[in-house]
Amino acid sequence: MLTRREWLRISAGAGAALSLNPRLLEALQSQALMTKPIPSTGEEIPVIGLGGRWISTNSTPEELAGHRAVLHALADGAPASGRVFDSAAGYGGGASEELAGQWAEEDGFQDQIFWATKVNVAGRGGGSVREADVRAQIDRSFERMRLDVIDLDQVHNMGDPPTQLGVLQEYKQEGRIRYIGITTTSEGQYDALARVMRDYPIDFIGVDYAIDNRVAEEVIFPVAQDEGIAVMVYLPFGRSRMWSRIGDRELPEWAAEFDAHTWAQFMLKFVVAHPAVTVAAPGTGDPEHMIDNLGGGRGRLPTQQHLHRMLQLVDSLPGG
Ligand SMILES: NC(=O)c1ccc[n+]([C@@H]2O[C@H](COP(=O)([O-])OP(=O)(O)OC[C@H]3O[C@@H](n4cnc5c(N)ncnc54)[C@H](OP(=O)(O)O)[C@@H]3O)[C@@H](O)[C@H]2O)c1
Repeated sequence: MLTRREWLRISAGAGAALSLNPRLLEALQSQALMTKPIPSTGEEIPVIGLGGRWISTNSTPEELAGHRAVLHALADGAPASGRVFDSAAGYGGGASEELAGQWAEEDGFQDQIFWATKVNVAGRGGGSVREADVRAQIDRSFERMRLDVIDLDQVHNMGDPPTQLGVLQEYKQEGRIRYIGITTTSEGQYDALARVMRDYPIDFIGVDYAIDNRVAEEVIFPVAQDEGIAVMVYLPFGRSRMWSRIGDRELPEWAAEFDAHTWAQFMLKFVVAHPAVTVAAPGTGDPEHMIDNLGGGRGRLPTQQHLHRMLQLVDSLPGG
């Protein structure tokens, strides 16, 4: 188990790793994490969460210790509790749900997390499935995460929406799942996603969006705003894509005008500045990166002028 002392050492070390002046780090951490409302209820959640895709049975003990510290970093620090941990029944062969649930229970911060997961027994956009199989997978998520109530369960990758959303709706009516939704990170599924958003009573969607990947702005966000659906952003760095485009470039000094002190904060602030976006779920197995990413939800957001300048800069990078 990670002790409070060990966790503080990691937090303190993060300042050095991020090349931040310790006073700046303290100032950053003392700035409240921004929240936004879930449109269907008005409940406020912090704008930065964590994507839990990389916790796996194949991870080494060192990698697992890193993931555990990441989860601590996510949960740590009032005032904004209810930070999103985004998992899926399929991630890491179930290890993502199972280990996160175990660590949160053992380390006593289960209540501080907004538990989001996904169900899919149909494969990627696959054909129709049996309700009993959908229920069995959802029930397994409750067991693995050690929860009586799941905050958000979404149909993963557009798998058989009528059947799987129907089952999720039943769990919601029973009060066992608080919010339901559907996800895709494939542009080829955006039209189908938009239809589901219009036709089904869902609370959330999960979709890919990044400073250099903005198709969702045109096709998906207007529907989310019209229908009052929360948007969880996946792939805010495009996995390795944006990191290789940035390379070893210096962050421009003007990023400090909206309190972005690292490239991660620059990219996350672009994403959460969009009025349709409720929360971003960047993935990381590194606790220092988690602290860095939470900085993407602190301080000022970019103005329209800044957003324009950010886009010009990113469009000038190689690999666009
Ligand atoms: N269809 C779906 O429903 C779907 C599909 C894809 C993804 N998702 C969700 O979206 C989440 C995010 O996606 P992702 O993790 O694949 O991609 P991502 O968030 O765009 O990028 C993750 C990459 O960025 C690095 N990184 C994170 N924070 C950093 C920082 N502060 N500084 C430097 N590098 C940093 C990570 O490496 P380190 O580990 O070294 O930090 C990792 O290589 C997933 O975990 C999952 O929850 C959902």
